[in-house]
Amino acid sequence: MDAERLYLDHNATTPLHPEVVDAMARVLREVYGNPSSSHALGAAARAELEQARERVAALVGFRDDEIVFTASATEANNTALASALLAGDGPPGHLVTSTIEHPSVVEPAARLSEVGVKVTRVEVDAEGRLDPAAVAAALTADTQLVSILWANNETGVVQDVAAIGADAATRGVPFHVDATQALGKVPVDGSAVHAAMLSGSAHKFNGPKGVGFLAVRDGIELTPWVRGGPQERRRRGGTENVAGAVGLGVAADLAVCGLEERAKRYEGLRDRLWAGIQATVPDVRSNTPLDAALPNTLSVEFRGTAGDVLVEALDLEGVCVSSGAACASGSIEPSHVLSALGRTPEEARATVRFSVGLGVDEAQIDRVLEILPRLVARVRRVSS
Ligand SMILES: Cc1ncc(COP(=O)(O)O)c(C=O)c1O
Repeated sequence: MDAERLYLDHNATTPLHPEVVDAMARVLREVYGNPSSSHALGAAARAELEQARERVAALVGFRDDEIVFTASATEANNTALASALLAGDGPPGHLVTSTIEHPSVVEPAARLSEVGVKVTRVEVDAEGRLDPAAVAAALTADTQLVSILWANNETGVVQDVAAIGADAATRGVPFHVDATQALGKVPVDGSAVHAAMLSGSAHKFNGPKGVGFLAVRDGIELTPWVRGGPQERRRRGGTENVAGAVGLGVAADLAVCGLEERAKRYEGLRDRLWAGIQATVPDVRSNTPLDAALPNTLSVEFRGTAGDVLVEALDLEGVCVSSGAACASGSIEPSHVLSALGRTPEEARATVRFSVGLGVDEAQIDRVLEILPRLVARVRRVSS
């Protein structure tokens, strides 16, 4: 990659940690057995897979036999929702979720409502925070699952998942938490939040793409989403991605190691960026509640700009960030997350997300701050 390129899009994906690459390269070269085979090469692959499982379990506060490897957090979320709401012969049940979930929960939830499941989407406040009491109040005798994002990918807002999980547990309702953005950035303990199921994805914390997991508490019946084999204790069919799982396991170890110090460093970089933006660019507003958010994330509205044009302008200067809008069916759609915070379509479209991570330093932040005022002014002129 171009050495000059500044990557501030770590919530989209992260660079691989060198130790992850080394571990995966060794497995790809040397451990090619099928973990289901009974011979020595199969056993070697099985041993790698099980060590990775232990590492992931330690990351999230589950037992190793409670970890099911998947191809992504998207698959894990689909599996969790379908298993909780479509299993059994009873009438369609009830799902409680929020208005700012990731599309990998939003879209399966929409599909579930098409087949008769009642879906309650609890609203957030203007900073994206859920009131645990509002989530508890949404529970009914028919509720089969509460599914809430630990931390939001767009604004970084962190929910009070401990309170939400405790309330669900009191009512005997399983709690699924999508911890994909939280892992590696804040401490994650599935037990402390009473999670029945917890999703994650390696590529968000310096592991490889194409491998994730669903942690499923012992006693929770999991109906497979991918069928066709006895793998993963019959909870997910298909030959396991051994090298991917090993990469995920090493990334899990690294995510736990030095977390507090790393989070402080990210927070310092994020705060430096926000202070610099406020000092040099007029008419800006943060969508990130800095005291209740991931330490690495800053979502900023640059009033009067088209965020996607600003993202392109930054890209031309070698800076990678994301906008607060997505291209859908050929038109620019404002983010449902920013809309749920009460932002108008124009405000949502004027938003850019910065997310720091491995390899980002103060000099890079200062370089972004050097070019940003000029680019924002130019994009504002063009947009008006
Ligand atoms: C909160 C959250 N959940 C789920 C996902 C999906 O992860 P994956 O890329 O592994 O499908 C993402 C990815 O952006 C995410 O941010």
